[in-house]
Amino acid sequence: MESKLKEKGYEQSQIDLIMNLDEDNQQKFLDEYDQSLLKYLSEKDFMKDKLDEYQKYDGLLETKKLIELVNNDVINETNSIKLKKLYESEYFIPKNEKLYLEYIDKYEDVDKMREIVNTRRYLDLYSDIVDTDLSKGVRMLINKYYRLPADYEPDDLVAVDPALGRGYLRKEVYEAYQPLYEEAVKQGFNLKVVSAYRPYKMQDDLYNGYLKKDPQEVVDTYSARPGHSEHQSGLCMDVSEPGYSLDNFYQTKASKWLAENCHKYGFIIRYPEDKTDITGYQGEPWQLRYVGKETAEDVYRRAITYDEYYACFVE
Ligand code: DAL
Repeated sequence: MESKLKEKGYEQSQIDLIMNLDEDNQQKFLDEYDQSLLKYLSEKDFMKDKLDEYQKYDGLLETKKLIELVNNDVINETNSIKLKKLYESEYFIPKNEKLYLEYIDKYEDVDKMREIVNTRRYLDLYSDIVDTDLSKGVRMLINKYYRLPADYEPDDLVAVDPALGRGYLRKEVYEAYQPLYEEAVKQGFNLKVVSAYRPYKMQDDLYNGYLKKDPQEVVDTYSARPGHSEHQSGLCMDVSEPGYSLDNFYQTKASKWLAENCHKYGFIIRYPEDKTDITGYQGEPWQLRYVGKETAEDVYRRAITYDEYYACFVE
């Protein structure tokens, strides 16, 4: 066997590795001068009896990762393409790897699975809650898993000019909103800020008021629980046009214009209509959240939720 391998052109170090295999596998290296399989033999975690499987999925993933997944019986015919997509995704977060592998076979759509894991949506809403990291500044995340302390109150609130609406916003947010507003006016829209900063207590009163008319699982789709509203951060606002309520604002041309343009001014539509399963909220075309221009443009370009964006690029 050794001399046949030599004749085939293998080097002695490669022949030594091949000679450790059983006969069937040795034969593989004689039948075809298979360079692609050689790379497995010198890997630390190479297992002799898995060579067929390495061969089957060869090239799908980086060699070390493929060996690990094959050795742990993770990869199979049904999930191999999903695994490839997952490991190649720009939204792959290494610390979530175990969870992805736990959920990969439970979801047909691997992107949806990744989104669910990255945003912690595999957990019940309002469970495993953590205090949000205030040091992230205007990029902080506030959602059903990340909360603001009850006594959190921004220290740079400014009043919205009554011509533009009502309420208070953080200074940077208000300054970013003004050019957006001016452009909206040029476009023929009449935007009004109808709700901006809301202290913890106000959100508490609102939420409890809603509970008197709707069951909690319904209220949770349109109102944040106290401590979990972006309004408490002074970084967001609800806008509408005279003659419209929030509920029918989506019918306005202004809402469509905002969805396509607010990122240019540092804002995102925080609760898109097509992401209710991730955000846990109905679509809210009226809620503008300030995250800064660069981030807003990036979120818009990627068309992912801010919840996932934060997990991938801010946290
Ligand atoms: N309406 C949004 C979700 C809030 O209550 O903050």
